[in-house]
Amino acid sequence: MAIRLGDEAPNFQAMTTEGEVDFHKWLGDGWGILFSHPADFTPVCTTELGAASKIKGEFEKRNVKMMAISVDTVDQHNAWIGDIEETQSCTMNFPIIADPDRTVANLYDMIHPNSLENMTVRSVFVVGPDKKVKLTITYPASTGRNFDEILRVIDSLQLTSKFQVATPANWQDGDDCIVVPAVTDGELAAKFPKGVNRIKPYLRTTPQPNK
Ligand code: BEZ
Repeated sequence: MAIRLGDEAPNFQAMTTEGEVDFHKWLGDGWGILFSHPADFTPVCTTELGAASKIKGEFEKRNVKMMAISVDTVDQHNAWIGDIEETQSCTMNFPIIADPDRTVANLYDMIHPNSLENMTVRSVFVVGPDKKVKLTITYPASTGRNFDEILRVIDSLQLTSKFQVATPANWQDGDDCIVVPAVTDGELAAKFPKGVNRIKPYLRTTPQPNK
């Protein structure tokens, strides 16, 4: 069954390029991103893992651990990592799950047979410190992901988990935010001391509270 926002991220034990992991223990108290790619030794996937490894520091700043997965073996992953590092000028620095029997892929509904037979599509799951799924995104095999967009969404998720705000279209960290409808006008001054611009009764903006 498909995993929905707010569901607990299913736990699993799996072999990875960095040894055996228990997913929930590996996550610890922080955030995590689990993302699948169709197969090793394929061009778009090679660029994606290279791009992700280069911005691992940005994920770490946000207390987010990264883990990739495909239905290949550890030996295949390790052989491919050499190609990723050579062609993308990077150092692979996060684990890739080996899931040849598709246990994790099936648990997370990452195989979409009408799109790609027997391989995982490009699924993304962001998991919060409470082990709940905060974001799911699914891309087809033909479209490489934008990891800057994933960072942007994580910034929004982390902000909106702490303050009663939402983030508008194309928001970037530092931009004004939207006050959520649950906050009454009478509460605005106490909750948003930086001020609120009341454009419509339902559209109220405020400077980003944690900046
Ligand atoms: C790729 O990573 O380039 C790819 C993988 C599977 C199908 C199509 C493209």
